[in-house]
Amino acid sequence: MGRVPRASNRRRVDQAKLEAAGQKRLFGPPAQPITGRRRISGVEKPIWTENKANLIERYLYYFVQITKHGSYIDGFAGPQRVGPSNWSAKLVLESTPKWLRHFFLCELKNAPYVSLERLRDSQPTVGKGKAARTIELFHGDFNEEVHKILRSQHLTQKEATFCLLDQRTFQCHWSTVETLARHKRAGTKIELFYFLAAAWFDRAFSGIKDSAILDRWWGRDDWKALRRRPDLERAQTMCDRMKTDLGYKYTSPYEIRSRKQGGRVMYYMIHASDHDEAPYLMTRAYNRAVYPKETGHQLKLLLNEVQAMLPNDI
Ligand SMILES: C[S@@+](CC[C@H](N)C(=O)[O-])C[C@H]1O[C@@H](n2cnc3c(N)ncnc32)[C@H](O)[C@@H]1O
Repeated sequence: MGRVPRASNRRRVDQAKLEAAGQKRLFGPPAQPITGRRRISGVEKPIWTENKANLIERYLYYFVQITKHGSYIDGFAGPQRVGPSNWSAKLVLESTPKWLRHFFLCELKNAPYVSLERLRDSQPTVGKGKAARTIELFHGDFNEEVHKILRSQHLTQKEATFCLLDQRTFQCHWSTVETLARHKRAGTKIELFYFLAAAWFDRAFSGIKDSAILDRWWGRDDWKALRRRPDLERAQTMCDRMKTDLGYKYTSPYEIRSRKQGGRVMYYMIHASDHDEAPYLMTRAYNRAVYPKETGHQLKLLLNEVQAMLPNDI
């Protein structure tokens, strides 16, 4: 899609002016990972595994308030557990307002694929004719299916497109990430939510007998350098690659912990986007994912504030 449209009457004011004017500060600064320190500024409380799907759903909820449309690709879409309520594909499909128009859900294994079929079949019809919502399922390896998905007539160059890559550890090939990032010829790239394992990374790494698996996952043969690195440093390396190799404007790692209080970092959700609003919205989503949604007037204020915080020179 091109740039996210802005309301023409929105004034640009800086954060200091907003605060001086006594307006409640609704958004923190966008997350900026700090290598070597286990903290991400702008982030207040950690998200834990049970709520990772709420994070994705809440971010998209904010984003569609601006775009009023969008497509959602979920490469590893089956539920982690049978019948979970916090399953990303389910939460995103059932989120309201139902402004996301096209869904592409992929799964390799049979049982979780059947869950996807049930989920699709339980959805109400949304919109009519050309404006009708579509839900397409793909049964196979996402690294291959991604090419079919990207040929869809629904994924136009202007369509805001989001892709969840919720792999367990090494299933998503780097070439797949590249394919997604290079799909659009102009404008903003497909936005990525990429899951990078942390807690079990070293164990999984040591268990790999066939180094071709790591070659495909990392897309280069220098993956040995990742071994026994601090988790956040590895996540930062992935963020840097998404910027330098794929050209994303913003990349940040968001930690997902094992428990509500304390707990270890299980994985990082790496967010890669070209949208200037995206880091603000993701930080907000991270801080608010487990709280009730803002509605009506409050939501309008939030979005105005995001617009106001964008730098003037973009
Ligand atoms: C971590 S789970 C996804 C969890 C899900 N997002 C949720 O919210 O519950 C990863 C899923 O990807 C599937 N999978 C593994 N390798 C795959 C591949 N190459 N292509 C597509 N799906 C794959 C697994 O069977 C599993 O259902």
